[in-house]
Amino acid sequence: MIIGKKMADALNEQIREELFSSYLYFAMAADFESKDWPGVASWMKVQAQEEMAHSLKFYNWINERGGKAVFKAIDKPQETWESSLNLFEAALAHEQHITSCIYDLVKVAREEGDIATEIFLQWFVTEQVEEEANASEIVEKIKKVQNSQNGMYMLDKELSARSIAPVASSAE
Ligand SMILES: [Fe+2]
Ligand SMILES: [Fe+2]
Repeated sequence: MIIGKKMADALNEQIREELFSSYLYFAMAADFESKDWPGVASWMKVQAQEEMAHSLKFYNWINERGGKAVFKAIDKPQETWESSLNLFEAALAHEQHITSCIYDLVKVAREEGDIATEIFLQWFVTEQVEEEANASEIVEKIKKVQNSQNGMYMLDKELSARSIAPVASSAE
């Protein structure tokens, strides 16, 4: 069954949200790269690439269903954050926003009776639980060590260990 216009429009809007997420995390990486927090910057660059992979999943799904991906204007992200705590709190708030976008998409899929898209979106529902948990775990860690130079150094080193997940090549 070819994808309906309302569903395709909503998914195209999510391509923009995911690309903005990527843009935002790249901006976060750049800010902390310039402030000599290489681990934070590296973590954010991995995050940015994951968001790119998310946009590709939506792109592939729209295509597979006979629709066409549409690329909308992406807002300019904030350029600077005052502390790493501030940075990861902003990342957490952004992920909470994305979770609500995904829930809205599920609602559209249900209204439209698009069962296939509803099932496709389940991956994102689960992914968002993980995304929020990851950001919030780092926020809590920073709160514990932020007054210790050594603690922050160790945390930065820990964050640098995150590696790039393979880019999704299909709608899977
Ligand atoms: Fe995402
Ligand atoms: Fe995300």
